[in-house]
Amino acid sequence: MPKIKPMKDGPLLVEGVPNLKNSDGDISPDKPSFALCRCGLSKNKPYCDYAHAAAGFTSDNGDAKIRNTPIAYRAEVEGHQVEVSYTPVLCGHIGECQRLHQAVFDPKKMPWIQPENGTLEGIRSVISACPSGALTLSIDGMDPTHLESDDVSVTIVKDGPYVVKNVSLGAVFNGANASEEEYILCRCGKSKNKPFCDGSHHDEKWRDDA
Ligand code: FES
Repeated sequence: MPKIKPMKDGPLLVEGVPNLKNSDGDISPDKPSFALCRCGLSKNKPYCDYAHAAAGFTSDNGDAKIRNTPIAYRAEVEGHQVEVSYTPVLCGHIGECQRLHQAVFDPKKMPWIQPENGTLEGIRSVISACPSGALTLSIDGMDPTHLESDDVSVTIVKDGPYVVKNVSLGAVFNGANASEEEYILCRCGKSKNKPFCDGSHHDEKWRDDA
């Protein structure tokens, strides 16, 4: 069974994941298990090179405050009552929502989610593309859903997190409305909600080659 185990003050141990990808495509190593860097300092990214030890990396979040309250945005869309819910701490600012349906998801507007400006098809496509599970959708009072895929993979986002699909994680899912099937893991070492990405790489302009 594919699984990821975050090691205390160390890397992510990955076992049995059939697909490791980056923007160039499949880069799966020729071995069943490997260690991925999560301190942001390895010179052999995405793999761990033990830089965490010399740097004194800690995976402890201490008593850091996280934005863990879901915010609901409701509107009538094509005759249906639509609710899009967003949990800030789960978001990695990868921007799929804005790219796919900017009429609804636009961080330059207030509020930044305006379902009334969109289509049901467009909103559904965003919820299913959301890599972090920060967004859920409810239509006409049905249970909120993430619209997950069947892919089993870990994808490395340039200057950002690991996007994980359908891999068991040895950690507590403490984000409100978090998906245990699709989630994002911190790669920069700066998250206040490790092992999950909380968008800190974006706020602190972290880069792979820093
Ligand atoms: S990669 Fe997003 S907070 Fe570290």
